[in-house]
This record gives sequence, structure tokens and C-alpha cells, in this order.
Amino acid sequence: MEAKFPKYWEIVFKELYPLDKNLKVIEIGCGQGDVTSILCYLGFYNVRAYEMDSLMSKIAANKIEQIFGRTKIVMCSQYPALQEIADILILVNCAYADGCSNKEDYLRKLVLYFDKANRPKLFLLEVIDSEYKIPDEEFPDCLRLNSDDIKATFPQAYIYSYITYKYPQNKRTKKLYIIRHTK
Ligand SMILES: C[S@@+](CC[C@H](N)C(=O)[O-])C[C@H]1O[C@@H](n2cnc3c(N)ncnc32)[C@H](O)[C@@H]1O
Repeated sequence: MEAKFPKYWEIVFKELYPLDKNLKVIEIGCGQGDVTSILCYLGFYNVRAYEMDSLMSKIAANKIEQIFGRTKIVMCSQYPALQEIADILILVNCAYADGCSNKEDYLRKLVLYFDKANRPKLFLLEVIDSEYKIPDEEFPDCLRLNSDDIKATFPQAYIYSYITYKYPQNKRTKKLYIIRHTK
């Protein structure tokens, strides 16, 4: 049987494929560097991938060096460590409550991420969808957003979305929003 990639990988690939590879990309929570690998494979020159877990960040850095011969892409640090300008911001498969106790806190955190990257032209943001109603400690209600939440949070943006996971076929329902600003 042919291997099937996770849908969010395919969407990241498809959305970024036609773009100028000189654009600066910041990825938040790169884990073992799978999405970072897509960025390198596509030829983005200017990539910063933040990972706060030191073991994960080492795995990611080794992977990127071994496959692409590139170093200094993965930074072992919690985002946002400092103000760093990006054209493209990526937060996929990385929904963490991190002390947020309600939806407003969580949305404020997403806006902080966006602002710290200097309000990039493109934000690829995958979230747990509000259609997902099952009690789940890992993904509490405050993380579950709908498209009105996203529109209200980024009112100037042109936004569309893809369902990347759907309960009950998958463990949860998630949506990946493509948030574009024309500056
Ligand atoms: C589930 S993994 C997903 C990795 C990657 N996004 C992927 O799809 O392959 C999420 C990772 O994000 C990291 N993380 C979460 N919040 C972070 C933050 N604010 N800054 C840096 N890393 C973060 C966690 O340590 C974890 O390794």
C-alpha cells in the first residue's frame, strides 16, 4: 500500500510551493522537524524553526543537517523568545493550552505569536475545531475554535481553511487556516 502523508503536510506543501523561496519563514513548535523538512525540500533559504523541548530540537536539527546539509535552522527555545520578523508564520499540529484558561487567552496568545513575527503576510494556523465536542484534557474547550473566531481575530485578512482531521474517523477534528494579509 502507498504511504499516505498527513493532510496538514500536504496542505503546507501545496500552499508554500508557489511562493518566493527568499521569504523568511518561522515555524513554531517544529517537534522532530517534519514540517521543517518540507520547508527545506521546497528550497526556502531563510527558515527558523523553534522547538522548546531540547531532545526534540536535537532530533530536528540532526534530521535537517543529515538530509539537507543545513544547520542553524532549529532553535531550542520557546517561541516567542525575541522579536523576529517573518513573511510566513507556521503553527501546525501544535495546539497547547499553556496556562490559557479561556478562549480569549488562547486567541491573545495566537495574536502575540503573530505580532512577534511582525504581522506576517501569511499565517498557516492549525487549530482544534469547535465541532469537536468530546471531553479531552489535552485539548480543553478553550483551544477549540471556529471560523468566526479566526475571522474576528484577524479581521483584515483573507482567510480560507481545510479540515485536516475529522472526529470520529480521526481522534479529533482540526482545521488548518490560511490567513493572508496584503500589506
Ligand atoms: C505535536 S509536536 C508537532 C511538531 C510539528 N509541528 C509537526 O507537525 O511535525 C508539537 C511541538 O511543539 C513544541 N512547542 C509547543 N509550543 C511551543 C512554543 N511556544 N515554542 C517552541 N516549541 C513549542 C512542543 O515541544 C512539541 O515538540
